[in-house]
Amino acid sequence: MKKDVVVLDKTFTTFIGRDEIQTRIAEVASQISKDYAGKNPLMIAILNGSFIFAADIFRALSIEAGISFVKLASYKGTTSTGNVVTAIGLDENLKDRHVIIVEDIIDTGKTLSAFLPEIYQRAPASVKIATFLSKPDALQYDVKADYTAFEIENKFVVGYGLDYDGYGRNLPDLYVLS
Ligand code: IMP
Ligand code: MG
Repeated sequence: MKKDVVVLDKTFTTFIGRDEIQTRIAEVASQISKDYAGKNPLMIAILNGSFIFAADIFRALSIEAGISFVKLASYKGTTSTGNVVTAIGLDENLKDRHVIIVEDIIDTGKTLSAFLPEIYQRAPASVKIATFLSKPDALQYDVKADYTAFEIENKFVVGYGLDYDGYGRNLPDLYVLS
């Protein structure tokens, strides 16, 4: 059943319901569990948006795995190449670990393309990306998720961890701007 919600000054309508989200998460988690059996992967979830997806997918794994969280800070104009992204809280030793980056959404791909070099620099055994959502039509950087729960159109969404100006993250379903 479609339902409208108002977040700040905008109205959003039901897009992907909580049951469909959980069904898909079980499928993705089962795939990850197969791919990483015996490898003790480390999930690195990028805050804030991915915390709910990360919690659900992590709990749905049937294998031994670790989880850690980072927050990214970007500084504009400090180098000629543009933004510098620093991971706050990346205190884990990644050497020879199988790393799975967990994102809420890959939109342009800018965030991940700036963050990935920080990960590779720490000599992990492997790096893959798991994202709750991706918007293939919005992609501008060479970033490809290995696990995607849902590919969506290039429309603004809130809920299930994703925010509009800091609000709407606690909505249990995913909503799209009407
Ligand atoms: P990217 O760097 O362009 O890939 O953008 C990634 C970040 O933009 C995500 O981690 C979100 O915080 C934010 N974002 C992109 N699209 C949406 C959306 O539709 N709703 C809420 N946040 C979004
Ligand atoms: Mg955001």
